[in-house]
Amino acid sequence: MSQFPQLRMRRKRQSAWSRDLVRETRLTVADLVLTTVITDSESAEGPVPSLPGVARLGLDALVAQAREAASLGIPAIALFPHIDPSKKDGSASEALNADGLVPNAIRRLKAEVPEIGVIVDVALDPFTDHGHDGLMQGDVIDNDSTLDILARGAVILAEAGADIVAPSDMMDGRIGIVRDALDEAGHPDVMILSYAAKYASAFYGPYRDAIGTASALRGDKRTYQMDPANTEEALHEVAMDLNEGADMVMVKPGLPYLDICHRIKTEFGVPTFAFQVSGEYAMIQSAGENGWADSDRLLLETLTAFRRAGCDAVLTYGAIRAAKLLKS
Ligand code: PBG
Repeated sequence: MSQFPQLRMRRKRQSAWSRDLVRETRLTVADLVLTTVITDSESAEGPVPSLPGVARLGLDALVAQAREAASLGIPAIALFPHIDPSKKDGSASEALNADGLVPNAIRRLKAEVPEIGVIVDVALDPFTDHGHDGLMQGDVIDNDSTLDILARGAVILAEAGADIVAPSDMMDGRIGIVRDALDEAGHPDVMILSYAAKYASAFYGPYRDAIGTASALRGDKRTYQMDPANTEEALHEVAMDLNEGADMVMVKPGLPYLDICHRIKTEFGVPTFAFQVSGEYAMIQSAGENGWADSDRLLLETLTAFRRAGCDAVLTYGAIRAAKLLKS
């Protein structure tokens, strides 16, 4: 390799066109999944204070957002439900209501914005009165009794028209059980995006506020979500989920876990998604609102970092904003 002064690294950085020519990573709208919060309670609609720029949407507003996203070229939308507290109980029965908020939202989207892919979480936390992702036996989150309700819930979502179901509960064995249930119910083409490496993280704070589980949550999720200190365990989780039939895997949170994204992508070579979660987005937004940093640039820079680390797609609350910035 030649050395300075023959080689000057700055030569290629002189102008926009030459920087464009040598750029190694591209961020495009096709890499974005729009993350949305929906609600079945009219009084809960509107801005989420801890998640600046994000509102809980009724179904008309959801359809409007999906339409805007589709017209910008965003391939898919992910739905997260805020459920009226009066419908929550210990057995998450609302998760099995085929006429509930999420199945209705899927049907509206499929009927009115058929060109956008619909991704829905499979987990019980929006529906339990204790805010955990599984059923509780005493103080313990019970793995095996949760699996049955997850599988039945996934079939209901598939029946409503979901394109991708995304188990986010971190129970052991859920991918295989959900795959079998979908196949047996005649949905072999519904995809599974596994939250394979999901860490017990403080970055979920604003989301729990948005879906109304923050105040209800008893204890923490460390007996099922992963220890932020672990990498090898994430690879093990991914291997298991792929074995059980996951079509794509996800890392969550995103930015603090780029090393995990990179390891997974290089070791397995499968579609690897990251979730830029609520706390990450809130940090970007609040820095912008306070005039401490340029939040548009923070958004594009962080999303590009996911691509550089090897992610194929990123779930973000800022997808519409990013798509507009990419077009301008
Ligand atoms: C749980 C779930 C979580 C998120 C989506 N589904 C995390 C949790 O409460 O443990 C977080 C999303 C975000 O922070 O944006 N099933």
